[in-house]
Amino acid sequence: MKMKTDMITMINVVKADELAFEDGETCLVVPAYHREFPLNSAALAEEDEVILQALIDKEIITGKAKTCYYLPTPSRAYKGVLVLGLGKRETLDAETMRRAAGAAVATFGRHRVRHLYLDVTAFSEAPAAAFVEGVNLGQYVFDTYKKTEADEAPTPVSEITIIAAADVALEALGAECQTAALVSLATNGARHFANTAANDMTPGILALAAEEIANVEDSQCSCTVFDHEKMAELGMNALLGVAHGSEEPPKLIFLDYRHPDAKRTIALVGKGVTFDSGGISLKPGSKMHEMKYDMCGAAAVLCTMMVLTHLKPAINVVGVAPTVMNMPDGKAQTPGDIVRAYNGKTIEVHNTDAEGRLILADAMAYTVDHYKPDCIVDIATLTGAVIIALGHCAAAVLGTDDAAIDQLIEAGRETGERLWRLPLWEEYEKMMEGNHADLSNIGPDREAGTVTAAAFLKQFVGDTPWAHIDIAGTAWGVKNVSYLNSKHATGYGVRLFTRWLLNQAETAT
Ligand code: BES
Ligand code: ZN
Ligand code: ZN
Repeated sequence: MKMKTDMITMINVVKADELAFEDGETCLVVPAYHREFPLNSAALAEEDEVILQALIDKEIITGKAKTCYYLPTPSRAYKGVLVLGLGKRETLDAETMRRAAGAAVATFGRHRVRHLYLDVTAFSEAPAAAFVEGVNLGQYVFDTYKKTEADEAPTPVSEITIIAAADVALEALGAECQTAALVSLATNGARHFANTAANDMTPGILALAAEEIANVEDSQCSCTVFDHEKMAELGMNALLGVAHGSEEPPKLIFLDYRHPDAKRTIALVGKGVTFDSGGISLKPGSKMHEMKYDMCGAAAVLCTMMVLTHLKPAINVVGVAPTVMNMPDGKAQTPGDIVRAYNGKTIEVHNTDAEGRLILADAMAYTVDHYKPDCIVDIATLTGAVIIALGHCAAAVLGTDDAAIDQLIEAGRETGERLWRLPLWEEYEKMMEGNHADLSNIGPDREAGTVTAAAFLKQFVGDTPWAHIDIAGTAWGVKNVSYLNSKHATGYGVRLFTRWLLNQAETAT
């Protein structure tokens, strides 16, 4: 389950007067705002400008967002031109660019384009890095078990050259686009972990993947994996209770990335239920197969750590992934069981399907105790209720660290991985008190399901500032985003976390 780092798109940045097109399957990409013409590209041949202007006059090319027009130009230095519609100038942001690029991917594939030249000489405000992301995310295919005709198309786009205006700092632009290529590769990695069927994506396999992330040369990252025995020794009975029904041994994974100049230590904890049948509180059959995605939080954390080992920002980050399979069995935990978690709190397991909070409880309590982070953030496909609240358009964020929550929401705006805050008043904590134990793992009826789940988690972070992200709605099944495939996992969290951590590393004093 190795992440294919050699698949990363090659990035170049050049000034227009130094531009030379390579031989082969190249395409010049010219951005266009809605109804703002003529086209403005330093690299475009005059003859093509004339042809394209005729199409503009006929309103075949409009510049509307997510529309594109491809003109084959076999006799020029570039072999085709793609006019990339960005919509109205006032509404252009990174997400519009990402979606425009994602929408153009099918056209690049049809015309066998391998090397893109994006001309932003007249669009210095255009987020070129978002273009790189949109192309890389849009090109992801999940072909482990089935090849389709589209997958068999020859080499996808593997090189992108940004043509920048004379006054642009090339180095900074290049670094930004390089980061975008790496982050989209890692996002595709998280999508791949999640899409892989649960019979091939076990806790043990996730642990091996984590070790591979740390084993990269000069990673500044170490990997520790706790097995069943070690967790039993530590009293992690909330996590182990969930694992009882499965033949797959549970693993608690830690990736510890350190930087000598770090001012802060952040812990990221991702729910890694490799399959959630519900356990004895069995889920209905109709969509149960989707529960192979119940490890999307863990995938996001591991793949974020992979990015850090390559970018080396000045911040310490501990990535934690509690991983188990939740199954019904003669040995499975049963409703009414009472377990004592790592921090000594007792929990009445009223519903074995509310298992994510149980495994996170032990993982977070241990993490705050052992690593003493300045802030802990967990990410989990935790509640169906978040889909009722926000649909598939945003993840919910809750917690005690107001500053981190604001920064995460801002990082969500920058990356297109949206977050919306829900409240966490004291009343919700009352709703999680147990009858015969300190806590119950479910609230009364179905009220405020996303919030009561967070209120439960709060009991396991002590005084450490904390944020919780519920991605049950955004981890898969997202429709109408051109660079995502609605049939598969989205990799939500990798872009969000990376941006947040980089922002912190840059601003920490
Ligand atoms: N993994 C599920 C949450 C989930 C449900 C994600 C549907 C995506 C789609 C979680 O473990 C779960 O089953 N939660 C229960 C909690 C309830 C029993 C309090 C839920 O949301 O129904
Ligand atoms: Zn469940
Ligand atoms: Zn679950």
